[in-house]
Amino acid sequence: MTRGMTDSTSALTPERFLERFGRYFNRGRIDAITNLGFLFVEGRADGAYFEDTQGRRFLDMWCMGGTFSLGHRNPAVVRAAEAGLASDDFGSLFFFSEAKGLLAEKLARCTPGRLETTHPVVTGAEAIDLAIKLARGSTRRSAILHADHAYHGCTGFALSMMARGEMRDFAEPLVPDFHEIRYGDAADLAAKISDRTAAVVLEAVRTDADMAVPPADYFAEVRRLCDETGAKLIIDEVVCGLGRLGTLWGCEYWGVEPDMLVTGKGFSGGVFPMSAVVTRPECLDFFAESPYRTISSYAWSNVGARVTLAALEETERLLPRLAALGDTIEANLRTLQGRYGTALRGVRRAGMMFALDFADAATGMAFLGLMFGLGVLVVASSQRLDIVKLYPPLILEPAEVAEFSEKMESALKSLT
Ligand SMILES: Cc1ncc(COP(=O)(O)O)c(C=O)c1O
Repeated sequence: MTRGMTDSTSALTPERFLERFGRYFNRGRIDAITNLGFLFVEGRADGAYFEDTQGRRFLDMWCMGGTFSLGHRNPAVVRAAEAGLASDDFGSLFFFSEAKGLLAEKLARCTPGRLETTHPVVTGAEAIDLAIKLARGSTRRSAILHADHAYHGCTGFALSMMARGEMRDFAEPLVPDFHEIRYGDAADLAAKISDRTAAVVLEAVRTDADMAVPPADYFAEVRRLCDETGAKLIIDEVVCGLGRLGTLWGCEYWGVEPDMLVTGKGFSGGVFPMSAVVTRPECLDFFAESPYRTISSYAWSNVGARVTLAALEETERLLPRLAALGDTIEANLRTLQGRYGTALRGVRRAGMMFALDFADAATGMAFLGLMFGLGVLVVASSQRLDIVKLYPPLILEPAEVAEFSEKMESALKSLT
């Protein structure tokens, strides 16, 4: 029996789901999803595809921002989870194990330079919160500089960096001493950074708003300014890491070494909740006074460590195919842009991440709906509905690339 099936004859259709379970969910959210035409009850998921309970199949070109970059239920990752559950449970946050050691050793080896110490947590936002705490604790300063229009998650410190609007304003007042810098503008950072700055928090590419790619020399200048002032450089790799920019880590794309690297989403292959902060050792010196200044019951999981190690190895195995795969996708997108340029005004790429610039928000949203109807999931930027983003799975095969291009052409034809 597949997920969402109560028995072999009664598929849990959206109507049946709403009738039986609807009242137990946030009504506003259900209504919003229904109005968009996206109400969906999950069935099986495999590789580049997921299905609903009625067997409708969707090609996943969002991958939940990279959570499913290795494809759904990647066999190597599922095997590691099964093997882990056969012998381990979460384990204790106070104790150590071989699985934890192997993951921490792997991270020290596969991250740049002096990034050496691993702190796993559960979500990306929790990892961001931890990195900011470590920056404040290790520098004994409080000011945090972050990019305008950034998205780093919905917990306390992460939310304090969010662009003003619906997701943040209702929770004000947030944590003090957070300040915006213009993303990609080194002169703006130079004007705002000082010996009061605890950390500068940036993504290698600003993914949420507009997929902004900074100038080539930006991160070298950011690193220099952080070194000069003693501020910690925190790079949020939750989306840009793990092959998304064609390199294992987004910071490698720019050749910069942060003081702290924050990872999540695809880190544990989409089958287990695990995120992490990997730091230079000196970021933790202040922990010597009290090693349990921060704990999280479900952080240092033995099963999660095995799963994450398998996901990292699988990501590394896929890296050599990404340049050619990205080139093919880009060439197809540019051909379509040439043919349907009144609706699709531009195509941008950073590694295996693409932005489609539509004429306006209505056209972007219409494109999403048409693609969903054709069995392809893509998303718009939460801050810019005229920009549709593609995070293709790294395992995509030529037939799936062709299917995507054909369906995209059909959607664009209906729009022009
Ligand atoms: C760049 C970035 N950082 C952090 C997060 C937060 O991750 P999580 O949703 O696991 O808390 C996200 C989530 O989308 C993200 O896109």
